[in-house]
Amino acid sequence: MVTRAMALGCGAALPRRLVTNADLAERVDTSDDWIRKRTGITQRYIADADELTSVLGQRAAQAALDMAGVPADSVDLIVCATSTPDETFPSTATRIQAGLGSTRGAAFDVQAVCSGFVYALSLADNFIRVGQARSALVIGAETFSRILDWEDRGTCVLFGDGAGALYLEGREGEGTTEDRGVISTHLYSDGRFHDALYVDGGPSSTKTVGHLRMEGREVFRHAVVRMSEAVDTALEVNGLTPADIDWLVPHQANRRIIEAMGKRLNLPDERVVVTVDKHANTSAASIPLALCEAVDDGRIQPGDMILMEAMGGGFTWGSALLRW
Ligand code: UT7
Repeated sequence: MVTRAMALGCGAALPRRLVTNADLAERVDTSDDWIRKRTGITQRYIADADELTSVLGQRAAQAALDMAGVPADSVDLIVCATSTPDETFPSTATRIQAGLGSTRGAAFDVQAVCSGFVYALSLADNFIRVGQARSALVIGAETFSRILDWEDRGTCVLFGDGAGALYLEGREGEGTTEDRGVISTHLYSDGRFHDALYVDGGPSSTKTVGHLRMEGREVFRHAVVRMSEAVDTALEVNGLTPADIDWLVPHQANRRIIEAMGKRLNLPDERVVVTVDKHANTSAASIPLALCEAVDDGRIQPGDMILMEAMGGGFTWGSALLRW
């Protein structure tokens, strides 16, 4: 008998303040037209001082618990994927745990930048599969606005803040792809690409928080290739073809990358969940935010096969298959 991590709830949280491309064009040398054409982004949400990563993460986590109808103190594991923690330590996950009013189980952060949610999902799935946890909250929460160089038009227009969460619970299935829950996850990294996407600060190197630095074209060049490899592996090991995928819920960095992935899988546009236009790139939060939107508006239905993929700093990348 195989234990499978079923997704029973999801939740989303966005900051109060909406910032349009036109708003940004008043601060930096950019235009609505450039941002739309190159990225598909039209607006993003930017966190105010009181909207910490943990605050957004807690709101998303609570919404996921509410949807599942379970109390916070029943959760065995809280994994928060973030590259913008409230503090260097303790983890943002422990702050969320306290905020939710829970004192049991284990809570910790995972840092894999934009692939963070897929990494956290993989960890939680494995905890549940081996029986070390029965239930888990997987959260992606970010306030990238805090690490942006607002003088650098090449990066500051691309990112937004937000959080999304998924509640998972172990259930015994038959171990076939017909079962609901997390089917598989595949994770990869290659640290040689550090310089293409990194933050030029940190407690051990510069004692400052630092700013995000990105060679956009270099990242773009690798993104489709790497994510395609991860997706092909996910399909192959499960004996699936693109025709078995109901929804592509990709990391939301750039509409052109998302469309290229959709085309490669031969998926019609309406089967690809896109939120980059409204949220911009929210790093580890982008997949759960997109997933939650498509669940909330009724697009994703029980039994649907969802393919997730992401790539981020490191480089890190990966894919996950989940039957809702
Ligand atoms: O989530 C982690 C993964 N991250 C990604 O997947 C991001 C991947 N990369 C990208 O999405 C794209 O490379 C960007 C959106 C970052 C940039 O698009 P691009 O088509 O690669 O543009 P570029 O960097 O080659 O810049 C083209 C031009 C340059 O001007 P010149 O040299 O041609 O005169 C830039 O200076 O656009 C200029 N530019 C801007 N113009 C107006 C760069 N940023 C801006 C801006 N507004 N904000």
